[in-house]
Amino acid sequence: MNPQEAYNWLLSHQTETTYLESMRNLLGWDQRTHMPARGHLHRANQLANITRFIHLRRTDPQIGEMLSAVEGTALLDDPCSVEAVNVREWRRSFDRAVKIPEKLAVELARVSSEAESFWRDARPRNDWTGFTKYLQRIVALKREEAELIGYSNEPYDALLDEYEPEETARSLEPLFAELRAGLVDLLGRIEGSSGQPNTSVLHGNFSVYEQESFAREVVECLGYDFAAGRLDPTAHPFSVDIGPGDVRITTRYDSTFLNTALFGAIHEAGHAIYQQGLPSEHWGTPMGQAVSLGIHESQSRLWENFVGRSLSFWKHFYPQAQRHFPTLQNVKVDAFHSAVNEVRSSLIRTEADEVTYNLHILLRFELELAMLRGDLEVEDLPEAWNGKMEAYLGLTPPDFSSGVMQDIHWAIGAIGYFPTYTLGNLYAAQLFAKAEAELGSLQEQMGAGEFRPLLDWLRQNIHSQGSRYLPRDLIRQATGADLNSNHLIEYLETKYAVLYGF
Ligand code: CO
Repeated sequence: MNPQEAYNWLLSHQTETTYLESMRNLLGWDQRTHMPARGHLHRANQLANITRFIHLRRTDPQIGEMLSAVEGTALLDDPCSVEAVNVREWRRSFDRAVKIPEKLAVELARVSSEAESFWRDARPRNDWTGFTKYLQRIVALKREEAELIGYSNEPYDALLDEYEPEETARSLEPLFAELRAGLVDLLGRIEGSSGQPNTSVLHGNFSVYEQESFAREVVECLGYDFAAGRLDPTAHPFSVDIGPGDVRITTRYDSTFLNTALFGAIHEAGHAIYQQGLPSEHWGTPMGQAVSLGIHESQSRLWENFVGRSLSFWKHFYPQAQRHFPTLQNVKVDAFHSAVNEVRSSLIRTEADEVTYNLHILLRFELELAMLRGDLEVEDLPEAWNGKMEAYLGLTPPDFSSGVMQDIHWAIGAIGYFPTYTLGNLYAAQLFAKAEAELGSLQEQMGAGEFRPLLDWLRQNIHSQGSRYLPRDLIRQATGADLNSNHLIEYLETKYAVLYGF
């Protein structure tokens, strides 16, 4: 078979499989938004079956033969061509999928599913001892997986690579160490400041109907296209890509606290705006897909924090917010802006502010790395966790549920996932700084409700690129510099020096 024919076979085989995946996404969206309670068992069976079909197709031995027929040929001479990018990513996912024997894949799925349901019950009961035997099993299986997949430096890299292609522990450690030092120092100054914000304005009675209307106005103005999406309520907010013209978002409403639904909606809209801006002519192939979880998170955090928690943003949207929520009529925009930016050390990652959030992530990254290196045993995790919480955030969890047991990630075997959150924040800061430098009056534009220039900049530099470049190359292409922690530290220092008056 000639290389072009082999490529064409791959193109149609892989695109067909992506159709199955998008059907699975639609089933998943329905499950988490509208499905009747008694539909759960049948839905679980539908999902298990479609997942099996997808796995069979993604590990079809013919993929390997076709990849070999096309690799090393003139068709892929330009590494940035559509063909070369697709083959590069098809190879990566095929190798990963076939290196894990079915026995291990089945065992991982079984143990994670059992561990997840045990964790759901055990966390409220604070049953760490019961959970350890599941977690020990998961860590052992993930180490086995890492050995089978292979790595050049250390086992952790094989796991990290699934979420952030080509990223390694060795490249993250210095970056994260700088960030940690900067954040701990900044947090100390914030906590020592006398100018603490009054956050009572964010608590009260806020109609869910008004919260939803306001969230819709905001995300539409930022660039989320409702003709190609929709917003629904859910328990744990997410966004989901069904296909071109259909990228949906969800949020969670708390009738007593303003931040939850609004910032949740902006965050998910950020993810969805990325998906809506991918090149649809390449849908179904890597060229038309998001490149990594970290880049995805950079888009959600950029809109949520760099835009949605800026004073310029609130100068534009505050009159609208006051119309929806009359209690804000007696609150000045600066006071409101300070309130939504309160920094406070807390135990729970998902409730953390912009400054402390990354410290929660760095702690988890360091513990995962130590476990995979064999330097830390599961039974010693709580002590190591609490030691780092004390060192970074000055807090000691009173129990396991608000400490080492708080996240679902380890229970479902997602070891190596956490760093993508902090990478997302680092990418976002570097991209935002570059956009500001190129667009000049970005703050003025946002203050006037003009978000289009920023959106266009992201469309051109990130969204339209699909998976053409690996994450670090994409950042270098877009910003002209290697990824570094200075942009995030500088952004936070400048912002909080003003807010906290130091
Ligand atoms: Co996100």
